[in-house]
Amino acid sequence: MNAPAAAAHAALAPAGLQLAGDFPILSRTVHGKRLVYLDNGATTQKPDAVIEAERNFYRDSNANIHRGVHWLSQHATDLYEDARKTVQRFINADKADEIVFTRGTTEAINLVAQSWGRTTLQPGDEILVTTLEHHSNIVPWQLLCEQTGAVLKVAPISDAGELELEAFEALLGPRTRLVAITHVSNALGTVNPVARLVEQAHAAGAIVLVDGAQAVAHQAVDVQALGCDFYAFSGHKLYGPTGIGALYGRFELLQAMPPWHGGGDMIRTVSFERSTYADAPQRFEAGTPNIAGVVGLAAAIDYVSGVGMANIAAYEHALLGHATAALQTVPGLRLIGTAADKAAILSFVIDGIHPHDLGTILDAEGVAIRAGHHCAMPLMTRFGIPGTARASLGIYNDEADIAALVAAIDKAQYMFGTRQTR
Ligand code: ALA
Repeated sequence: MNAPAAAAHAALAPAGLQLAGDFPILSRTVHGKRLVYLDNGATTQKPDAVIEAERNFYRDSNANIHRGVHWLSQHATDLYEDARKTVQRFINADKADEIVFTRGTTEAINLVAQSWGRTTLQPGDEILVTTLEHHSNIVPWQLLCEQTGAVLKVAPISDAGELELEAFEALLGPRTRLVAITHVSNALGTVNPVARLVEQAHAAGAIVLVDGAQAVAHQAVDVQALGCDFYAFSGHKLYGPTGIGALYGRFELLQAMPPWHGGGDMIRTVSFERSTYADAPQRFEAGTPNIAGVVGLAAAIDYVSGVGMANIAAYEHALLGHATAALQTVPGLRLIGTAADKAAILSFVIDGIHPHDLGTILDAEGVAIRAGHHCAMPLMTRFGIPGTARASLGIYNDEADIAALVAAIDKAQYMFGTRQTR
């Protein structure tokens, strides 16, 4: 960051984006203390705009989609299909038909594994992941390897938590069929250089799936600029509802893939001899979907787009810098994950206090963090630790929240006798 930009960001951080008032839950107390919510990597809180959108859907617009001849069904269908266009614009997909609604990132990845993977991979084919991956970008591929005889390869990371780029490239070979990489590490905050990795993977003849669960809330995502073949994300990490997310897939790929769930709304014709299937994306949306969730997801996208993804990225970058500096003043605290390019996630360990104990003491102070392996056990093994404490920031956090975090850590150290003075 250049000096004027750094100064502008520094000026932005103390004031915050002034959005907390949009999130009703943030005005509640926990254990008699102000709620300081720093567990946004697990799930974000919801603004009134999202809560109202879901409520209004059930109050005014509820009907099943794609099936009814009546007005209300057509209305609900329009809301659902408009939301698909909202997602398309948000991640700059070429066509709305490249957006499949899923329950979230995990289901989106499993869809690709079971539809594309099971019909494409041969014994000895390779899937390349990285040490940074969440279990949801590891286990579906392990299941697929068991089913097809494909082999899972893992690209290593440095002590800073950055992907080792030369090693990654060296692992790409003639048998690599798929590269599955996270955009932003949920446990460390590392931002991967996705466009570069995609270029290398494509040069080797592999396609690329990007796990965007932790990226979409922190920065603008442009799937065409990234060049990826699949991109998966969840609504609930983007200030939207739980149980709804999306898979972007290049249309030619989606259109060539078989269904993975059978049922209503994904067929063209059905007879007892043989069924034929709808085009993508309907082919992958069997059964009545989470219509209200889709409407809520679109409301969340409208909300963050109104704030501006560039503003969010700049603000969170400033707050991350402030929080990193504040945590570095804590004696005995070690940050895990110090990549040059990071999203607003801080993982750390503290001498003499287990992360779970720390999380419990912070909770008593009203400070909500996550403690443990963060569904990234191989990554914890890489660092030789059972887990970390993790503060993950969102658009409503500010410097007062960081001060509350540091004060609560101070109290924990005092209680554990690992710090004598307060
Ligand atoms: N994947 C979520 C997290 O990292 C649950 O906390």
